[in-house]
Amino acid sequence: MSDVALQLSAAWPAGATVDQGNLVLGGVPAAELASQYGTPAYIVDEPELRARAREYKAAFSSHPGRLQVMFASKAFPCTAVVRALGEEGLGADVASAGELFIALKAGIDPADILVHGNGKALRDLQAAVASDVAFVVIDNPDEIDRLAGIAIAEGVVQDVLVRVTPDVRGVTHDKISTGQADSKFGFSPEAARRARERIDELSSLAFRGWHAHIGSQLFELEAFDRAIRLLAETGPCEVLDVGGGLGVAYGAGQEPPSLQAYAETVLKAVHETVGPDVHLIVEPGRSVVARSGVTLYTVTSVKTNVSTWVAVDGGMADNLRPMLYQADYEAAIVDRMLPEPGTPLTTSRLAGLHCESGDVLIDAVDLPAPVAGDIVATPTTGAYTFSMANTYNGTPRAPVVFVGDGESRVVVRRETIEELGARDVE
Ligand SMILES: Cc1ncc(COP(=O)(O)O)c(C=O)c1O
Repeated sequence: MSDVALQLSAAWPAGATVDQGNLVLGGVPAAELASQYGTPAYIVDEPELRARAREYKAAFSSHPGRLQVMFASKAFPCTAVVRALGEEGLGADVASAGELFIALKAGIDPADILVHGNGKALRDLQAAVASDVAFVVIDNPDEIDRLAGIAIAEGVVQDVLVRVTPDVRGVTHDKISTGQADSKFGFSPEAARRARERIDELSSLAFRGWHAHIGSQLFELEAFDRAIRLLAETGPCEVLDVGGGLGVAYGAGQEPPSLQAYAETVLKAVHETVGPDVHLIVEPGRSVVARSGVTLYTVTSVKTNVSTWVAVDGGMADNLRPMLYQADYEAAIVDRMLPEPGTPLTTSRLAGLHCESGDVLIDAVDLPAPVAGDIVATPTTGAYTFSMANTYNGTPRAPVVFVGDGESRVVVRRETIEELGARDVE
């Protein structure tokens, strides 16, 4: 790696480099990827993805009891991603029959899958039991008897966890905070104990343990520590699922805790409360996939009124996060990376092409003389982007391209215009 490459922030994949001002992803020039696969396109650095999975396993390897690292597939529910993570030893946490379908298609063993969700539909519960998943996470009183009935019909005993809201609010955007008492997810500790009593009365369900997930994009280890200690107080258990939530750097200057520090915090809290022999589950999403993803766009126009608007050929259809919860990203022009100090920069508003004033990907980013035709890259777009993709304004969904070791391949092809009408029956 050259000296300049070292200046890329932690928002970029660790394997991203800069060669004479040109961005190189997984050994392939980004400009080449844009011309070969078109834009917008989600580029995934496969070695980075796999390395993160291995790091997760290693970080928790000192746990003496059984350990399952289950990728929160909602962060990137694409077969090739889930398969790669599965090959590195991760299971899958799924939030619906659809995500369950993807996890099974990716070859994840049902014994390494758990199903959660605050309002699971009958089809989600039925698919979970029929697929023989390891655990269903009970989130409300109504689904207890419903799930028990399905298990009876299938002639099985379904293992369950009960989701607890420990009333710990981490520092994150309100829309991704889930551990507070007034959350739509889970039970208060008292209600969780009552849920357990009801489960114990039912012969087709077997209570195994407690689950908590207090939110996403969290940087404070203290919040994880507090949540685990409160979770452990809910009552005895064989299994403790501590959720996900570890944050990532979306730009320079952001310093999330290291995975090692996070794992140490989790293991200490778990070992000091429930004990070292507990079957531990962690469910990371963002921190596994965010950094491996870079989205490429083509600039379609640059115009100045009060602001300079740099419009690209994507937007809220491929990345809804800035509109949903003001998520902030870096951006760069792929053939003018890391401009020399003193290079004139234009403070730009990176606008999407959709017919919404709110369709702005980045409110203010300094770009070196952007012009139509430039290829712009936004890093850290591996988490919760593809998963929230939509077809607003008749936009076919973008492809996913894996890169690594100088090679690239499409793992999800671009949607066609014709497919936009494929479900219309009249
Ligand atoms: C139950 C559950 N587990 C795990 C996760 C993954 O969280 P993160 O992507 O922040 O690691 C989520 C995401 O919100 C979740 O709802």
